[in-house]
Amino acid sequence: MVKKPAGNQMWGGRFSARPDAIMEAINASIGYDKKLYAQDIEGSKAHAAMLADQGIITKSDAKKIMQGLDTISSEIGEGTFEFSTALEDIHMNVEARLKDLIGEPAGRLHTARSRNDQVATDFRLWVKAQALHVHAILGELIDVFVDLAEKHADTVMPGFTHLQTAQPVTFGHHMMAYVEMFARDRSRAADAVERMNECPLGAAALAGTGFAIDRKATAKALGFREPTRNSLDSVSDRDFALDYLSLAAICAGHLSRLAEELVIWSTPQFSFVRLTDQFSTGSSIMPQKRNPDAAELIRAKTGRINGDLIALLTVMKGLPLAYSKDMQEDKEAVFDAADNLELAILAMTGMMKGITVNAASMAKAAGSGFSIATDLADWLVRETNLPFREAHHVTGAAVAMAEKKGCGLEELSLDDLQGLHPSITKEVFSVLSVEKSVASRKSFGGTAPANVRRQVKYWRSRRAKEK
Ligand code: ARG
Repeated sequence: MVKKPAGNQMWGGRFSARPDAIMEAINASIGYDKKLYAQDIEGSKAHAAMLADQGIITKSDAKKIMQGLDTISSEIGEGTFEFSTALEDIHMNVEARLKDLIGEPAGRLHTARSRNDQVATDFRLWVKAQALHVHAILGELIDVFVDLAEKHADTVMPGFTHLQTAQPVTFGHHMMAYVEMFARDRSRAADAVERMNECPLGAAALAGTGFAIDRKATAKALGFREPTRNSLDSVSDRDFALDYLSLAAICAGHLSRLAEELVIWSTPQFSFVRLTDQFSTGSSIMPQKRNPDAAELIRAKTGRINGDLIALLTVMKGLPLAYSKDMQEDKEAVFDAADNLELAILAMTGMMKGITVNAASMAKAAGSGFSIATDLADWLVRETNLPFREAHHVTGAAVAMAEKKGCGLEELSLDDLQGLHPSITKEVFSVLSVEKSVASRKSFGGTAPANVRRQVKYWRSRRAKEK
């Protein structure tokens, strides 16, 4: 009879002393990888069923394993399961409990499997579900923006470059710019899912196994397209987690840009928008304040999500093939990014759903800062055949004159304008308004209300096809 191991009952056979408490603390991942319990149990059930189908374990052992795993799933779900740090991680916690519950057959579950392919499978399942979740909630966010764009296809606002008034645009067009960004984020999520949709289970420790396993069967049972093709790559690859973190960081960047705009737009100085009470906070000292905390926090979440990406990129660089324990550090970064990205998307959805647009402030700002100067220059090109560079120069002089007089371009007299260039006629005034400016920008992708309505239609039908 071989004596019982001194420490870890899963791998302690060749050890005569327990691990030091600090060793146990640095080694354990159960504090966070318990989040993978459902995937771990799902993976084990698929593996056990396949082992039985292949005649590697008996049907009756497989049945006991399945029942035991279901019991463990309920115990964890109900919060009665006792997690043990000495058992390191979710995989060994589940297996040890299975042994308590069903005895000897539990020891057969790990045939033709290693924790290396097990964790790669569990984590892929989790990340895949999360990427699909982000894909779904971004779809809902897009719907909110499309609704806003439709409602505000005609609402004019200043368009900025360098945060200086540039040319008038419509608020609807501005909203549709974010639809494009979030749609790209969704397509990155879909691509990532497509790439990670291969099952590493059966790669075993690193070299595959001598048992006659059926990897296609387990891949299929777990909802993967097919098994991974190289056992070394299977257990050492964390690209799926990096893909997720990359798309999370890019998406958070988009959310953060809008968050920054909301912070600016909701100041009393701009007062372009008002956030609902549900998505604003007050100040404990200044009673008049309405703070855009949700927007600020979305902006800040981007920092930690970017950090999560850098953390895992750095963990993975320079690891020799195949598995190294460094890779256990893959999970917290992804969990943190996933929790915070989800919160950020949901907070943005809630904020934008209830936003009040102050069209009057936007229109006033849209007309200030000589925003229609380009329209004057374009008119000169079109109607008087001036080269654009010269028209730009004449318009610059008109802006300087209006600035000196303290009026808008449209308020200069025809005499004033003709003093700058003799071929200007009174027809020029027909283009010198913010509304005419935006309506004229009908080039494909331009800001004209008619374009915005067309884009709204396009996105509605694209979304409808998905549903
Ligand atoms: N908890 C480990 C992890 O997340 C599981 C794999 C352990 N494999 C090993 N060979 N020690 O990476």
